[in-house]
Amino acid sequence: MNGWLSVLQGPGQANHQRAVAVADLREAARRRLPRAVFDFIDGGADDEVALHQNRAAFNDVRFRQRVLVGTTKRDQSVELFGRRWSAPFAIGPTGLAGMARPGAELALARAAAAAGVPFTLSSFACATIEDVAACSPGPKWFQLYIFRDRGLSRELLGRALAAGYQALVVTADCPVSGKRERDPRNHFSIPMRVTPRNAADVLRRPAWLLDALRAGPPLPVNLLGGVDKRADTRSLAQLAAELLDSSVTWEDVAEIRRAWPKTLIIKGVLAAEDVRRAATIGADGVVVSNHGGRQLDTALTPLTVLPELAAIANGHLALLCDSGFRRGADVVKAFALGANGVLLGRATLYGVAAAGQSGASRALAILGDEVDRALALLGCRSIHDVSPDHVAMPASWSVRNQTGTD
Ligand code: FNR
Repeated sequence: MNGWLSVLQGPGQANHQRAVAVADLREAARRRLPRAVFDFIDGGADDEVALHQNRAAFNDVRFRQRVLVGTTKRDQSVELFGRRWSAPFAIGPTGLAGMARPGAELALARAAAAAGVPFTLSSFACATIEDVAACSPGPKWFQLYIFRDRGLSRELLGRALAAGYQALVVTADCPVSGKRERDPRNHFSIPMRVTPRNAADVLRRPAWLLDALRAGPPLPVNLLGGVDKRADTRSLAQLAAELLDSSVTWEDVAEIRRAWPKTLIIKGVLAAEDVRRAATIGADGVVVSNHGGRQLDTALTPLTVLPELAAIANGHLALLCDSGFRRGADVVKAFALGANGVLLGRATLYGVAAAGQSGASRALAILGDEVDRALALLGCRSIHDVSPDHVAMPASWSVRNQTGTD
């Protein structure tokens, strides 16, 4: 019986506690998910150059440790937007997380609360704004798209405010959806239907299939008022085309600023001038991001522009960063280059796909332990002691080179 149970639970459920790195959780997720779902999470746009560069860039930053500092007490907590986080990262927004596992958004929110870090709910989540708000006492942020139907965006903003979300993250790098070629090749659809073309893929993953059958189809429930219900099954590309709006400008974000009285963060900036515009409209922070390589392929790697953008943010705005973070050392490098916080995307998504809340918690614990170890080895007692002196980076990333032409 145990053998059968573990077969049905899938390898991820059984093995995640033995995961020593986020890469192990990714592997457990790969073995538990149908290929179409794994690729939806794992993949990037076009040739996936940005996706791969996001990881490669971390290897181009090398540490220069200081020794004999005495680092018995180490503190990786940070204070951002008037609140203390236990770790220098938060969980960022990932739409349709419920495709990986029913209840994934609630599991991620609970794991974040247990770790003392914020959780960001996507506009495309499979759980309601209100259910996620109520599921844990932890700090919550809501990610908003400015949709073609502005009334829908206004409604989501109002619900997030009423439900007590502390920050609004407006994603600015999606005038249209990126061209993620794995999705049409795998016949990925919303909801996922079992068809002759994908039956073999889905039937090889009985644990995922049983969960999905029990829970019913995962749908972007907060948007259902705004999508055409007559079109029953859509590809992700169709759904995005229906909702996203390429006419969005800074004036729309300024309007959001007037409607949202709490912390406002603009996600998806890479250019100095956009950081300035964000400051001008009164944003509290920006997320330096290429959307994890899922939007504009060959977009700059966020890590490489941090020195330039940190010089502009310079205390006026909080500088968050995401895209490619899989190691605690990656987080420490981002701080060395000027970030004030990091958002996690796939790292915690692999964890929740592999093993629900405990898998997400495992990802957060691994990253926290790695940050702690990196601080000790680097000779830092606090994440705030990490400075540009602790790293060497390619000359082309330096502030002078990039702002010289600005
Ligand atoms: C995302 N991301 C994203 N961002 C956003 O603002 N709204 C969203 O709905 C989504 N949805 C989404 C789904 C999936 C499956 C992934 C992997 C990502 C982007 C996300 O917030 C973040 O920018 C990247 O995931 C960061 O890169 P890494 O950490 O995944 O490499």
